[in-house]
Amino acid sequence: MDKNTFFITTPIYYPSGNWHIGHCYTTVVCDAIARFNRMLKKDVFFLTGTDEHGQKIEKKAQEKGLTPIEFINPLVDGLKDIWKELDVSYDKFIRTTDDYHVKGVQRIFKQLYDKGEIYKSEYEGWYCTPCESFWTESQLKDGKCPDCGRPVQKGKEESYFFRLSKYADRILKLYEDNPEFLQPKSRVNEMVNNFIKPGLQDLCVSRTTIKWGIPVTFDEKHTVYVWVDALTNYITALGYGSDDDSLYQKYWPANLQMVGKEIVRFHTIIWPAILMALDIPVPNRVYGHGWLLIGGDKLSKSKGENIKTEITDPKELVDRYGCDALRYFLLREIPFGNDGVYTNESLLKRINGDLSNALGNLVSRTTAMINQYFGGVLPNPTGYTDLDNEVIAIANGVLPLVKKNIDAIDVPTALGEIFKLIERANKYIDETEPWKLGKDPAMKDRLSTVMYVLAECIRIATILLKPFITKAPDKILSFFSIDGSLIKDFDTVKFGELKGGTAVIKAEPVFPRIDINKEIQEIEKMMTARHKEAQKAEKERAKAEAKVEEKVEEKPEISIDEFFKTELRVALVKACEKVEKSNKLLKLTLDVGDEERTVASGLANYYKPEELIGKKVILVYNLKPAKLCGVVSQGMVLCAEKDGKVVIVTPEQDMPAGAVVC
Ligand code: MSP
Repeated sequence: MDKNTFFITTPIYYPSGNWHIGHCYTTVVCDAIARFNRMLKKDVFFLTGTDEHGQKIEKKAQEKGLTPIEFINPLVDGLKDIWKELDVSYDKFIRTTDDYHVKGVQRIFKQLYDKGEIYKSEYEGWYCTPCESFWTESQLKDGKCPDCGRPVQKGKEESYFFRLSKYADRILKLYEDNPEFLQPKSRVNEMVNNFIKPGLQDLCVSRTTIKWGIPVTFDEKHTVYVWVDALTNYITALGYGSDDDSLYQKYWPANLQMVGKEIVRFHTIIWPAILMALDIPVPNRVYGHGWLLIGGDKLSKSKGENIKTEITDPKELVDRYGCDALRYFLLREIPFGNDGVYTNESLLKRINGDLSNALGNLVSRTTAMINQYFGGVLPNPTGYTDLDNEVIAIANGVLPLVKKNIDAIDVPTALGEIFKLIERANKYIDETEPWKLGKDPAMKDRLSTVMYVLAECIRIATILLKPFITKAPDKILSFFSIDGSLIKDFDTVKFGELKGGTAVIKAEPVFPRIDINKEIQEIEKMMTARHKEAQKAEKERAKAEAKVEEKVEEKPEISIDEFFKTELRVALVKACEKVEKSNKLLKLTLDVGDEERTVASGLANYYKPEELIGKKVILVYNLKPAKLCGVVSQGMVLCAEKDGKVVIVTPEQDMPAGAVVC
């Protein structure tokens, strides 16, 4: 039975805080599809949210001296603000730290364990901390994470495993029997050839070393693997397994789960396998869209430096050009499923070309002429010519075409169909030459029909645009005395609904034309100034850093008692990466026996991060923590230095992490 419900989901976002226009892509696309389905009178449930557990967050919070939740809360608020600015009409925002989700995940994990789908074993393999992914030796690319190319760390620990391997055949059959399940089609080959055919292995689904996660109820030293925690949001949000699962009963399975291409693997292999293990239906459709690549960072002519010349902050873009412009660009620019490039120029060209020239002009020309020739009152049509009938047929045919393309998840083509009508109407003005008709009193009737046809084209195109852009349509409809906020469906999208005699106001520009060259110059000037400021701040930071180093090098004479105040310990380098804001510092994650420490050390010029991983070092254990370039450094690693050569000091024989140096 074709249910009248429509459940659509975005992935839940990592609370990174550095949101750029690319992050808005999935959600704006889902919002347009959700709004479109609401206008088709479907009972829509649109879910989005945040993915808040895992080592990455734990570490970032620690660096800032905050608890994870203190660190996350403002970031989640920031994301919600962006969705507000972009008029994203989600029905529910789930946070994986929400109590009901935590309980839901715990219940699901126990359910899988009780069914024998999860078992306890020992994990040995490679872990990529930034991606929170485990990899086998054969999956590594040049010894590095195949997803992000960063170094991985060897790990061995007691873990629970999900019997993913046993679902390989069922997943292949799912792809075969339901070609709709994974789209676009090219992604099916990717999954089959890169992941399923080489052999699915059971998935490690718990960790004992990550504290910031959902505890396994029956074995509390384990926390649930972040991806299992995250994926199940799609059903815990509906109350699956809780006392009230009415939303789950009503909306599951999801009609559409939209995800970026890099996370298709999780959504079309691991996720359906979990659902199969739980004996519940898989989503109808998962769509893996392409990326919006941020392009165009140009060389500054004056200094030959690489500077960021693109504005990518969604809030700044909305402030500058409006919510409609940004939404329209995201929905229209990239052939759906492919990657596309964002530049300021491409955004400005879209605004000028489609919104200002095509749509804006049509509205201002038509409303100006109705005011000029008919005193601002819409005339009744007086009989249609073949030309009129051709345009009317296009106007009446747009809705089915838009619907067909939205059903096929081809949003840019759906929008393109609406703009075909807008462009056709503009051409109709050129063909009918109303300015000539207006001069001839005998042509008044003909002019009436032309004005009526134009007004109806505008009304129909504008109502159809409502799911895609959210501000301008109501404004445009108001010029025709229509309260757009009352239009909640497409019932009136039929030529001839507008009554002659309706008051028509002369439109103010809805999308003022932008002088692209001037605007780009202005942006470049602004971004260069920002770059200079950032450079200045970086210099000051480097100076402060140098001072800290100088201090370290000062060697006042001390007594033996003073020396013994220093506690030195052996530590194992578990992870190591460059400190983003510094050229000199490496951030080391150290195992010091029964605890983990983060230390920023000026080793970047002497060691590559991966060379240090696995090494034993000597840590000044009781050094007062200091913040270096945003990293709270909890100690200092001992090195030897001579003539610019720097090496770390290590125990002469292997000693366990935590051993005291005396
Ligand atoms: N937390 C995971 C998803 C878990 S879902 C159970 C995650 N989060 S994310 O914040 O990294 O990404 C959220 C969405 O933004 C993804 O769909 C991702 O593909 C999308 N995008 C992030 N940058 C993007 C572009 N530059 N272009 C298009 N989409 C991009 O993944």
